[in-house]
Amino acid sequence: MMKYFFTGVILTVVILISFIGYRQNVMNIATLPFDDEQNGLKEQIIIHFSHVVAENTPKGLAATKFAELVKEKTNGRVIVQVYPNGILYNDENELEALQNNDIQMIAPTFSKMTTYLPSWQVLDLPFIIETDEQLQQVLTGPLKDQLLDQLDTLNIKGLHFWSNGFKQIAANDSPIIQLSDFQNLRIRVMDSDMIHRQFSLLGATPITTTFGDVFYEIENKSIQAQENTLSNLYSKGFHQYEKHITLSNHGIMGYAIMMNETFWNSLDPDIQQHITDALEEMSDWQFETSTKMNEASLQELAQTEGVAIHSLTAAEKHIWKGALTQIYDTYKHEINDSYYQLLIEQVKLSN
Ligand code: LMR
Repeated sequence: MMKYFFTGVILTVVILISFIGYRQNVMNIATLPFDDEQNGLKEQIIIHFSHVVAENTPKGLAATKFAELVKEKTNGRVIVQVYPNGILYNDENELEALQNNDIQMIAPTFSKMTTYLPSWQVLDLPFIIETDEQLQQVLTGPLKDQLLDQLDTLNIKGLHFWSNGFKQIAANDSPIIQLSDFQNLRIRVMDSDMIHRQFSLLGATPITTTFGDVFYEIENKSIQAQENTLSNLYSKGFHQYEKHITLSNHGIMGYAIMMNETFWNSLDPDIQQHITDALEEMSDWQFETSTKMNEASLQELAQTEGVAIHSLTAAEKHIWKGALTQIYDTYKHEINDSYYQLLIEQVKLSN
């Protein structure tokens, strides 16, 4: 009997000692094991890049390509997250969001920067840039550098320019060809004095809305026309209502690729270099893609039932230009003669 009693006591003591030892061990582990890959995330830099157009546009595709290149060049250390279609911010609040570092990158049109930097209106002057070659020369030459440098005053790092080709006119009710077609036409334009002046000189009533509101404004007929590129017109399906398209090539559309300057300055020089290299490397591709997308959009629109396309003849263009002559003097004398001269010089260079 005693033998069983002692064996029982010894077994209980052994079990108790093993249990206490196990508990001690567990408690002594200071931190739980973790996955090394998760640790790597701490080192990752996320750049939130917001823009207002569709993904299948020159700007949308360029933003995606830029994100891929940056990821590749930095071995995944820098991730560019792209938010298209104005899902985060629209034309009215994206600049403020950038300055507050709520997002780190945006790519507004040059026109939308003119409220802050009036001399940028040089790129809104009509009928000066006429070919793709001239456009590329202007947007990659010294005028680009001088305009981008001005962004410093807004705590913004100007990185690059992208193109979306030439603007055309799309109208709801009838084609816009003669000057008389512009009379009292409620036309949506981007927020730029130079564009407002142009359409006022042509006899129209320019109205500014954000890009995100244009569809609604057309649908409810508060605007009757807009100027835009074919890729923007087609990708948003504006031709459901705006069935009369005039190929006028009267102005250009392009984008300033901008980053919050404080954020930019916080990046290591090698990361900054990868970002500028990515933009430089994709520059020719961006111009080609923009031309191709606008051509493809034209094909699509031309094949769409009910859509009528009119190419402005040289004589018709001459009449539009005639109505706009004073706009160049306005820019030269009231805004900035040297940018005007530089623009003309760059255009001539590619002739
Ligand atoms: C517009 O507002 O019509 C365009 O600026 C949209 C864009 O960014 O291409």
